[in-house]
Amino acid sequence: MVFDNTAAMPSAWREIDARTRALGFDMPSEAGTGAILRTLAAGKPGGGLLELGTGTGLAAACLLSGMDAATTLVSLDNDAGPQAVARAVLDGDARVTFVLADAHAWLGEQPAASFDLIFADAMPGKYEGLDQALRLLRPGGLYVVDDMSPQPNWPEGHQARVDDLADRLQGHPDLATTTLQWASGLIIAARR
Ligand SMILES: C[S@@+](CC[C@H](N)C(=O)[O-])C[C@H]1O[C@@H](n2cnc3c(N)ncnc32)[C@H](O)[C@@H]1O
Repeated sequence: MVFDNTAAMPSAWREIDARTRALGFDMPSEAGTGAILRTLAAGKPGGGLLELGTGTGLAAACLLSGMDAATTLVSLDNDAGPQAVARAVLDGDARVTFVLADAHAWLGEQPAASFDLIFADAMPGKYEGLDQALRLLRPGGLYVVDDMSPQPNWPEGHQARVDDLADRLQGHPDLATTTLQWASGLIIAARR
């Protein structure tokens, strides 16, 4: 079997990938993460999806390519620079709303059980404020994080945060959690 996830990437992803390299944005989601997100998004027809940490929009492009016409995506970042790439390439798609805001404050303002899939790709909603993010998941909703496998550029002490997050998700009574050695290391949890 040939594992080539870039072959399945939408054209918008390729354009964003090129712009991401030109910009020098150094926190992009991997193609393998995008491929799984695309598949999971397709499993939530008519759903509401949330991405914390738009970056330049690589994962958003993948989510959109999996979503049906009735599914919506909110993608949030507090840095207008990289998010401008996502807006430039994807904003013509009426299913997506880009929000420029700090995720800490924004998460606290959202009604409970308002999303069917959350890709938590920023510190808030992942290493900080995990319960705030999980509060937003509907029953059957999926919570997804990447970058769980050790990376050489991790700052001192980051491994302990990763281990703590994995323990909290795996031990959570309301979640069915799977860890995957795939792409940068994924955890997918479903709310019971
Ligand atoms: C790993 S990158 C996201 C990559 C992106 N999901 C992709 O598909 O390539 C993390 C992003 O989180 C954003 N971020 C960091 N702190 C934040 C905060 N407090 N609120 C909102 N976004 C934040 C950063 O600006 C950065 O763009």
